[in-house]
Amino acid sequence: MKIGIIGAGFVGKAIAELLISHGHEVLIANSREPKTLFSLMGSLPQAQLGTVQDACHFAETIVVAIPFSNIGQLPVEALAGKVVLDVNNYYPERDGAIAALDNFEATTSELLARHLSQSTVVKVFSNIIAAHINRDALPKGNPSRRALPVASDDQQAKQQVMALVDELGYDPIDGGNLTESWRYERSKPAYCFPLNVAEMQQALSKAKRDEELPLSAWAGVV
Ligand SMILES: NC(=O)c1ccc[n+]([C@@H]2O[C@H](COP(=O)([O-])OP(=O)(O)OC[C@H]3O[C@@H](n4cnc5c(N)ncnc54)[C@H](OP(=O)(O)O)[C@@H]3O)[C@@H](O)[C@H]2O)c1
Repeated sequence: MKIGIIGAGFVGKAIAELLISHGHEVLIANSREPKTLFSLMGSLPQAQLGTVQDACHFAETIVVAIPFSNIGQLPVEALAGKVVLDVNNYYPERDGAIAALDNFEATTSELLARHLSQSTVVKVFSNIIAAHINRDALPKGNPSRRALPVASDDQQAKQQVMALVDELGYDPIDGGNLTESWRYERSKPAYCFPLNVAEMQQALSKAKRDEELPLSAWAGVV
């Protein structure tokens, strides 16, 4: 399928590589002119380069992989009617303090969905370190396969994305709706640890809304 990727950093590039390795067509964009992505032509020659508007026009499914503080810059109209794969996380040190998140009153995906009010947001690939996205992908049935949760308020979109996750090398788990997606946000037991289906389900269920692990818990995960 065709997938647009907004954000050409660690995660955007890793997801582009994984998609291309499975035969998908990718157009990747940052906030600047495509020529600023010129070096990608060496490492990911199959990727098309463009602007954010180009990415929106390219596909019906769009990955958003940008610093959370910048989600308000995403074009609401151009993303209307699209399925938006939200891989973003909130780091106050980088993004600045956001009261609704600090007070556990909303999830990052709910805030993105509030901004992209005409899009269908699906939370996925947010709780795996970028460097592991291609390294850890394994064929279906491999006992070492990692599990990844998928959350959305739209059941059909969630099922489609779960099928894509499966195809790309991970066991998909139904992560509920966007309100419940805090269970695999930053600092939760399901965040960035390599877990199989049973372990991931256990990590999701034992998460507590107002309890956060320190950065040191997952920063060194290899
Ligand atoms: N790194 C990880 O291991 C990891 C894992 C899971 C999830 N995440 C989350 O995924 C998101 C991206 O992380 P990252 O590590 O890939 O960040 P990064 O390396 O800093 O890359 C961010 C990318 O977003 C682009 N960008 C920024 N604002 C933009 C905008 N308004 N429109 C279009 N492009 C924009 C930047 O390009 P320009 O500034 O040049 O436009 C850059 O290409 C973050 O929310 C992060 O928390 C990261």
